[in-house]
Amino acid sequence: KRLAILASGSGSNAEKIMEQFQKSTKGKVVLIASNKSEAFVLERAKKFDVPTFTFSKKEMEAGVLLKKLQEEQIDWVILAGFLLKIPDELIRAFPERMVNIHPALLPNYGGKGMYGMHVHEAVKANGDQQTGITIHLVNEHYDEGKIIFQAATPVSKEDSPETIAQKVHALEHRYFPEVIESLL
Ligand code: GRF
Repeated sequence: KRLAILASGSGSNAEKIMEQFQKSTKGKVVLIASNKSEAFVLERAKKFDVPTFTFSKKEMEAGVLLKKLQEEQIDWVILAGFLLKIPDELIRAFPERMVNIHPALLPNYGGKGMYGMHVHEAVKANGDQQTGITIHLVNEHYDEGKIIFQAATPVSKEDSPETIAQKVHALEHRYFPEVIESLL
């Protein structure tokens, strides 16, 4: 199976996924696409000899990204820290074949604007005893697609949003690659 990863930032998840599929017979990461031409994820792609593609929000909404994914005969689209809302036309082109990771236990802390440190600040502010990750299929309703996998980690009152973020990132790196492979 041919996988494309969409990312807007650092790409630590993308790196773990590329590592996983270097030694997998079930799939191959054949494209890293980003809406940010200076995103560090593009550097990580170069290290793994994975071709990259950058696009603007406008181009994505005009269908340029969809065209590229079809040209590359992509089977699965993986969102790993991708911060734009995917156009419905693109979602419809990959029914049950687009996967996202969210740094919280959906349905808690879902929706627009809940990304990066905002989620961990909210978990802290609400005094939650746990947080975690949610890996889900993407549908036309933001952060509401079918949940594939969740993992939790305890949160104590000594935790800061930064230490919560570290715990969540560790869960992401531990589980996202394997969960993707289990879907193929
Ligand atoms: C992760 O926290 C992920 O849950 C969220 O964006 C972040 C991406 O981090 N969607 P990275 O770019 O993979 O390091």
